[in-house]
Amino acid sequence: MTFLFNSDARRGAVFAEAFAQELPDIPFTTNAATVDPDAVRYLITWTAPEDLARYRNLEILFSIGAGVDQFRLDTVPEQVKIVRTIEEGIVRMMQEYATLAVLALHRNLPGYLAQQRAGEWRDISQLQAASRRIGVLGLGQLGQAVLDRLKPFGFPLAGWSRSPRRIEGVTCHDGRHGLQELLAASDILVCLLPLTEETRGFLDAELFAKLPKGAALVHAGRGPQLDHEALVAALDSGRLSAAMIDVTDPEPLPSGHPFWSHPKIILTPHVASVTQPATAARAVIDNIKRHRAGLDPIGLVDRSRGY
Ligand code: NAP
Ligand code: GLV
Repeated sequence: MTFLFNSDARRGAVFAEAFAQELPDIPFTTNAATVDPDAVRYLITWTAPEDLARYRNLEILFSIGAGVDQFRLDTVPEQVKIVRTIEEGIVRMMQEYATLAVLALHRNLPGYLAQQRAGEWRDISQLQAASRRIGVLGLGQLGQAVLDRLKPFGFPLAGWSRSPRRIEGVTCHDGRHGLQELLAASDILVCLLPLTEETRGFLDAELFAKLPKGAALVHAGRGPQLDHEALVAALDSGRLSAAMIDVTDPEPLPSGHPFWSHPKIILTPHVASVTQPATAARAVIDNIKRHRAGLDPIGLVDRSRGY
């Protein structure tokens, strides 16, 4: 049985060392060209290789990231478990990014950057944190961790998920009706939803119209969830005041796309969270041990939900 690592060499070296120490009975390779395909039981990759079917004895397909929308789930053989990476590096970085973004929008950073470029020295009216309501779309690993990190600032916190959740200090909403309530009470909306057929195009003009006028958006889910034209229109009309955007469709954006130069958008190139090799190797090794003990891996994808 072999573990096939299909990602960058720097992370591969860290994984190789961790596997040699923790799972010495599982040969580890980064070389798909020379591996015996029948020996491959575990594969970690970002995109699934076209020739996935050649690994006839594959047991687990690991995504090297937290998302699995880059896989075509229906093309992965039924018996193969699809597992996403949940590791402390991804979680910590998303907490940092969301905190950075929420504070930047709360403290009017896009406005001050525009004023700096125009040579203007002028204060912009500032709400206190207790009056700035934060709504998080998605109460999974990342949404919950972000809310936890935002607690000390004193913002009223709320979140939305598909199934009902209870989180101390957070007003939790679920389902269609819950979405309306969340949107109506979100001065800064943070999207941390997985990309599925239900969430594609989710952040659109209709949704923006349900936010309080002048609300701001943080988008760190996936690019295809956002109607890019609707965002520009909402910012230009003043319906939304500003946005911090980490994910776009396509990535990278073509030159000349309005997001590059829009004064109300702060754009980052899909860097909110990056899988950290040492902690990711730990998580994958623990999952293989769980799998071998007959337990479900942490981060097992439910194919029917798509995440
Ligand atoms: P997760 O643990 O699977 O949580 C997903 C959350 O979204 C859950 O609370 C789920 O509801 C909710 N949800 C999914 N579909 C929904 C729907 N149709 N209606 C309402 N709620 C819905 O995922 P995660 O680990 O937090 O990661 C979330 C996403 O972040 C990833 O899929 C990825 O796209 C993105 N991400 C981005 C970056 C970056 O660098 N920008 C890095 C990592 C991840 P339930 O609780 O009811 O299941
Ligand atoms: C990054 O976007 C990830 O899914 O980990």
